Amino acid sequence: MVPPDWSGVYHHPQFPLHLDIGCGRGSFLLEMAQLHHHWNFLGVEIRQTLVAAANHHRTELGLTNLHYLFCNVNPSLVGLLTSLPSSLSFVSIQFPDPWFKKRHQKRRVVQPELVDTLGRYLKPGGVVFLQSDVREVAIDMVDQFAFHPAFSLEGGETLPQKGDDGQWILINPLPVATERERSTLERGGFVYRQLFKKNI
Ligand SMILES: C[S@@+](CC[C@H](N)C(=O)[O-])C[C@H]1O[C@@H](n2cnc3c(N)ncnc32)[C@H](O)[C@@H]1O
Repeated sequence: MVPPDWSGVYHHPQFPLHLDIGCGRGSFLLEMAQLHHHWNFLGVEIRQTLVAAANHHRTELGLTNLHYLFCNVNPSLVGLLTSLPSSLSFVSIQFPDPWFKKRHQKRRVVQPELVDTLGRYLKPGGVVFLQSDVREVAIDMVDQFAFHPAFSLEGGETLPQKGDDGQWILINPLPVATERERSTLERGGFVYRQLFKKNI
């Protein structure tokens, strides 16, 4: 992944950046970018056809604070974040692929290296927002951020434990639901959410 020339990507490259990891078709960011004109939004996605279609749609709408990037975030994140022209202020990881089988779990997007990289590049006070419809995946993500010294749990007093669904954030603090979130809620599923802040 070669990072783009950000001055040709965003109209105001200095605006704070919201990074959405595994953005899928990008409809979440498409709505966010229209609601928050003083932020830049970046979606990263490993499926190239989705990225091409999302950027096409973005251009049709004339949005200058939104970009989608085709990459595998795990090996690309450091290069991407070192190239940024503004501070990374918000990261969302929403409904990542669960990879249930033990031998496939190393393919999960939230890995210790990714948490560590976000801990280094997210601005102090910056937010990581996590969502999943799979409790095991949500607990795995939460544990990784909770036990990293750069982050503090924001969403509850104590860590969510297996069998205890009381410590999750029940109402999405963001004004837009992702496609996966909508389909989960439509079928009556539970959404496991947590927020972390980068320590100051
Ligand atoms: C279940 S979908 C969720 C999409 C969207 N976030 C939502 O909530 O509707 C997970 C997305 O993450 C993408 N993805 C998986 N591994 C990735 C990686 N290593 N780098 C970038 N994107 C990845 C997948 O291609 C897929 O589009």
